[in-house]
Amino acid sequence: MCGIIGYTGVLPAKDILIDGLERLEYRGYDSAGIALLEDNNIILKKKTGKVAGLREAAGDIKSDSACGIGHTRWATHGGVTDINAHPHKCGQVALIHNGIIENYRELIVEYGLNEKLVSETDTEVVAALLDKLYEGDPVCAIRKAVKRLAGSFALCIMFADKPGKIYAVRNVSPMIAASCDEGSIIASDLTAVIAFSKKYFVVPEYHILTLDKNGIKVEDLKGNVVTPEILEVNWDITSAQKGGYPHYMLKEIYDQPEALRNTVTPRVKDGLPYLLDDGIPDDIFKEFQNIMVVACGTAMHAGMVGKALIEKKLRIPVTVEIASEFRYKDPIIDEKTLTIVLSQSGETIDTLEALKLAQKKGSKVLSIVNVKGSTIARESDYVLYTHAGPEIAVASTKAYTVQVAAMYILACKTGLERGIMDEASARDFMAKLMNAGEIIEETLKNANNIKLIAEEIKMAPDVFYIGRGLDYTMSLEASLKLKEISYIHAEAYAAGELKHGTIALITENVPVIAIATQEDVYSKVISNIREVKSRGAYVVLVSEDDEINDSNICDRQIKIPHLEGEFTAFATAAVLQLIAYYTSASKGLDVDKPRNLAKSVTVE
Ligand code: G6P
Repeated sequence: MCGIIGYTGVLPAKDILIDGLERLEYRGYDSAGIALLEDNNIILKKKTGKVAGLREAAGDIKSDSACGIGHTRWATHGGVTDINAHPHKCGQVALIHNGIIENYRELIVEYGLNEKLVSETDTEVVAALLDKLYEGDPVCAIRKAVKRLAGSFALCIMFADKPGKIYAVRNVSPMIAASCDEGSIIASDLTAVIAFSKKYFVVPEYHILTLDKNGIKVEDLKGNVVTPEILEVNWDITSAQKGGYPHYMLKEIYDQPEALRNTVTPRVKDGLPYLLDDGIPDDIFKEFQNIMVVACGTAMHAGMVGKALIEKKLRIPVTVEIASEFRYKDPIIDEKTLTIVLSQSGETIDTLEALKLAQKKGSKVLSIVNVKGSTIARESDYVLYTHAGPEIAVASTKAYTVQVAAMYILACKTGLERGIMDEASARDFMAKLMNAGEIIEETLKNANNIKLIAEEIKMAPDVFYIGRGLDYTMSLEASLKLKEISYIHAEAYAAGELKHGTIALITENVPVIAIATQEDVYSKVISNIREVKSRGAYVVLVSEDDEINDSNICDRQIKIPHLEGEFTAFATAAVLQLIAYYTSASKGLDVDKPRNLAKSVTVE
């Protein structure tokens, strides 16, 4: 949460910072600000609202300073005001921060900082502390300050009397850095850096960076210089642009066929699942007795789809836990459990902490992660990278379907290694999985029909999704998607459970989106649909059926391609994503940056 960027080099920094903040905006968009360092002076501009507002407000800055820092905020401490926006300046110091300083109150008292503070933020306390500790040597002051900070932080700092220099340090909160011909750049994530360099490094925790136009020095807290491992990203700036689509979300929905092919194809050898190139040994699939899936949000829903498949096909028990719950419930796992962690960003703090807890309890952790070199990837015993490319829209789409595909690969590999699936059925399964991209391409041809349905439901105060088995797990993700971007209250219900209470909410014209793609429960879902239809619901049926001309069943139909069992998940996902997208877009909402949300949740 919160996007941070720093640049020092040979080019004017102002536009570089603001362009970078626009790319990082999905990390938070309550307010934004920049600070430029020029002639022993720090020029500050901050503004509530989106980065576009800051760009306008910064129009009056004439400086061509080549050194500055910028921030886009997701508020934690203190309301959304210009004063609480970053950067925070105190005396000689200006800084930006992502994270939470847990002991900021103690620090205020201990160092008598109160009269230096003008905002309500924990961040400003760090600026005040650094200003107090600063005696001309920035690294020395940072070293002393960092030893006193409790919590998570990624900090970029400038000192008024150190022209051309940016200092940085982090604990937990993500930060990467790169140097190139134009100078040195540091940011929360790659989207802000990729325009300058495809090579970068992850800032090591509790190391102090000194950036200037010639490069980046990295030293530990004892002053030993360290050479970080250089990573290279396999996508370029065009992947992080809209590519002619009106919103990132729509682009990312249409990216899915390619993302699926990129994720699945490298994991197939001679038609069978193959994970040795990912450093995942075959043996681990034979050893565990049960699986624990831990994740947050959409990633957790992808885990639920995996559970539905694994339990049905392999008869291996799978528990899916929300990471923030898992952490505090003394989970029942040990060395016989394989923990699968899912995370698009690889930085979600609750997921990361859950991972560490699982390892502490003796469980091996295999993570499914989209961002290369992210913290979760680095902390895991094994990593299966999804290759969705950058996902910019806050509402996750392509990252979800590739996570589902990754779960399917793991399921097939487990089945094969344990002899539950023979080679022929594993080959058949992988061939179908390799076709997942085509399934989505085919399904997306329904977009116009879905757009019309979205128009019909967009003013509804409530929408219900119902399904059974796999379709119920799809409903959970569908309702999350709809509520997060259209602000319509949406609920997912196991179709058979509806009559145990929630059906009381079904009245004339309440939209019910019914998913009926699973043959074994198809007739049961149809019965449940009749129950809501007879109470006046407006029913949209998602199924493989040809036209149903029965107004006792549905008002609208969305047909998905004819597919076997679990592979309907890809088609259903695309349909449900489009329903949410078009509902939000037709309401004229900010589809990519829905209110109160942020893409990368690095606070607990
Ligand atoms: C946020 C995002 C969701 C995402 C969740 C988990 O809530 O808005 O789209 O599913 O975090 O993020 P992760 O990066 O761990 O998959």
